[in-house]
Amino acid sequence: MGSPERTQAMDYTGIDNEAIWNRLGDDHPVVGPVSGATIDRLLRMVELKSDATVLDIGCGLGAWSLRALELHPGSSCVGVDLSAAHIARATREAERRGLADRFSGHAVNARAFTPQDPSDLVMCVGLTEVFGGLDGTLKHLRAQVLPNGYVLLGESFWHRPPNEQTLAALSLDEDPHTDLNGVLEQVTAAGWMPVHAQVSTAEEWDNFLWACVRGLVDWGFNEQDPAARTRILRYTSDYRESWLHNLRGTLGFVLLLLRPVAPSETFLVARRPEWAR
Ligand SMILES: C[S@@+](CC[C@H](N)C(=O)[O-])C[C@H]1O[C@@H](n2cnc3c(N)ncnc32)[C@H](O)[C@@H]1O
Repeated sequence: MGSPERTQAMDYTGIDNEAIWNRLGDDHPVVGPVSGATIDRLLRMVELKSDATVLDIGCGLGAWSLRALELHPGSSCVGVDLSAAHIARATREAERRGLADRFSGHAVNARAFTPQDPSDLVMCVGLTEVFGGLDGTLKHLRAQVLPNGYVLLGESFWHRPPNEQTLAALSLDEDPHTDLNGVLEQVTAAGWMPVHAQVSTAEEWDNFLWACVRGLVDWGFNEQDPAARTRILRYTSDYRESWLHNLRGTLGFVLLLLRPVAPSETFLVARRPEWAR
């Protein structure tokens, strides 16, 4: 028989995504399977006027917001995130990089945040569940972006169909995702023209997941309270094993650069070639 620490269900209260992401090191400030080079590549594809406005919904630690400000020097950015700790860290980093006068962070629920005006670029990377899924997010974003602006959206999809264990690893009762073509179909049907789609690589996924694991391991090893240490380290192992056995190679992530299309022109976007119908 195993000791209780080995076999019993454990209360993981307080060990959640916010706590894990707050412990990401400065070498991986992106909260997702995305490299710094990918961020630069996508942001350089966006043509912005010199005094452009950027809205980053769910800005996390500010990786996208702050790089947008560096690559588009006359622009200003509003970052919104539910986590006050994330906003505090993004704001500190903006100060460190001399961007504080152009970055304004708001610790609020994005569902309740209504900006005064639409923006030239709206980013929403990794939180479509907040708006009830991809369709709900696309509807929400429509009002936030200028008619000739851009949206940068990050969405999960399945590289291969998930099994029950995969859904359990993500604490999902129902499957909210499709395959990659399914994502593109929803986007075009909702009246958005894809400009670019970039799928996260295996290396980007591994770098992100191991950055999360490193943060958890440091947390556990530095914890003086033996019970807390046990909880954190056991959680860390479950987290790592779920990734290695149930998610790696199955869960995908795509960054989409989109432009809004007027309703009268949606038929130009949401179509298949004659021969493919
Ligand atoms: C996967 S992370 C992505 C962060 C950032 N976009 C990035 O790519 O680095 C999702 C972020 O959404 C934030 N979030 C979750 N629910 C939210 C809500 N209702 N309103 C605002 N932010 C939310 C989380 O705190 C987290 O920072």
